[in-house]
Amino acid sequence: MDWSNTKVLIPGGGGFFGSHIVTKIKKMGAQVLVPSTKNGVDFRREEDCNKVMKEASPNIVINCAAIQGGIGYHSGKQADLFLDNTKIGLFLMEAAQKEDVDKFVNIVAGCSYPGYIEKEELNEEDYWSGEVHDSIFSYGVSRKMSVVYGKALSKQYEFNSIHLLLANMYGPGEKFNPEQSKALAGLIKKFYDAKKEGTPEVVVWGTGKPVRDWLYVEDGAEAVIRAAEVYNSIEPLNISSGVGISVGDLAKTIQKIIGYEGKIVFDTEKPDGALKKTFGTTKMKNELDWMPETSLEEGIKETIDWLDKNYEFAISH
Ligand SMILES: NC(=O)c1ccc[n+]([C@@H]2O[C@H](COP(=O)([O-])OP(=O)(O)OC[C@H]3O[C@@H](n4cnc5c(N)ncnc54)[C@H](OP(=O)(O)O)[C@@H]3O)[C@@H](O)[C@H]2O)c1
Repeated sequence: MDWSNTKVLIPGGGGFFGSHIVTKIKKMGAQVLVPSTKNGVDFRREEDCNKVMKEASPNIVINCAAIQGGIGYHSGKQADLFLDNTKIGLFLMEAAQKEDVDKFVNIVAGCSYPGYIEKEELNEEDYWSGEVHDSIFSYGVSRKMSVVYGKALSKQYEFNSIHLLLANMYGPGEKFNPEQSKALAGLIKKFYDAKKEGTPEVVVWGTGKPVRDWLYVEDGAEAVIRAAEVYNSIEPLNISSGVGISVGDLAKTIQKIIGYEGKIVFDTEKPDGALKKTFGTTKMKNELDWMPETSLEEGIKETIDWLDKNYEFAISH
C-alpha cells in the first residue's frame, strides 16, 4: 500500500497508543491529521465528530479515542464511561460512514471479550459468547457496541470497517499516574520508586494469579498499520503477543530488571479482575502474516528507560 497518497485521521492520536501509530504512519509517508481535545474537540458531541470528519475528509480513520484506565479507574465512573465511550465510538463511525471514508479501523480493547470463559486462550469466535467481566463491564460493553455498529453499517451501507481487539499494551509514553495506569505500568512504578526510596516491600494488588498477555506498544502500532493495509473483514481480529504471564511472575520479572532487593507482598483484598485473559494469535498470523517481535524483558527495559527520563511527565499525564 502506498501511504503517501493517503490521508489518515487519527482521533486519539495524541494518546498513548495513538501517538505510536501516528509516528509510524507518518514515517511511511501518510498525511496524518490528529484532532485534539486541547483545541476544544469533544467527540462525545455528534456535531464535533461530523465537523472534524467533514473538514479532514480522510481516506482512512484509525480511531484511538476513548476514555479509560486500569481496573481502579472504572470504579465509581461506570455510567459516565459507558455513555461517553458509546457516544465517541458510534458518533465517529457514523460520521465516517456519512463522509464516505474508505476504511474505518476501530481500536477495541480486549477487555470487551467475555470475562468468565475458562480457556487457554480467547479466540475471535469466543467474542460474543459470554458476559464482559464485572470489573470493566461498562467500558467493555460500550466498545463492543462499536463492533456491533460497524457490522450494522456494513450490512446496511456496505461501510468498510475493521475491528481490532488489542491485548493490554505497555511501553514508552504510557500513563504512570496511579489513578489511570494499567497493571504493568503500576508495577514498574512501584518497584522503580521502592528501589529509589529504599522501601523494604512492594505491595502488589490482588492474588498475583491472574494471567494476561502484554503487547509492546510499538508492536501493537505496527500490527494496526498492517491490518489497515491488508485486513478487510468485518469479523474482529485479535492483536496480541499470545504469551500469558501471571501478575506474580510479571512482578518478579520487573523486580529483577529494576534490581530491587526487597519483598513482594500480595494485597488479596484488592480485586483481581478476570482470572485468565490471553488471546489467540492464529488468525492474526494468518491474516496479517505478522507476529510481534519484542520480548517482554526487552519491552520492559525500554519502558523503564523512558520512565527514568520522563518521570514527572509520566506520573502526571
Ligand atoms: N493502553 C492499552 O493498554 C490499550 C490496550 C488495548 C486497547 N487499547 C485501546 O486503545 C485506545 C487508546 O488507548 P490509550 O491507552 O492510548 O488511551 P489514552 O492514552 O488515554 O488516549 C486516549 C485518547 O482519546 C482522546 N479522547 C479522550 N476523550 C476524548 C473526547 N471526549 N473527545 C476527543 N478525543 C478524546 C484523547 O485525546 P487528547 O489527547 O486530545 O486528550 C487521547 O488522545 C482505546 O480504545 C483503548 O481501549 C489500549
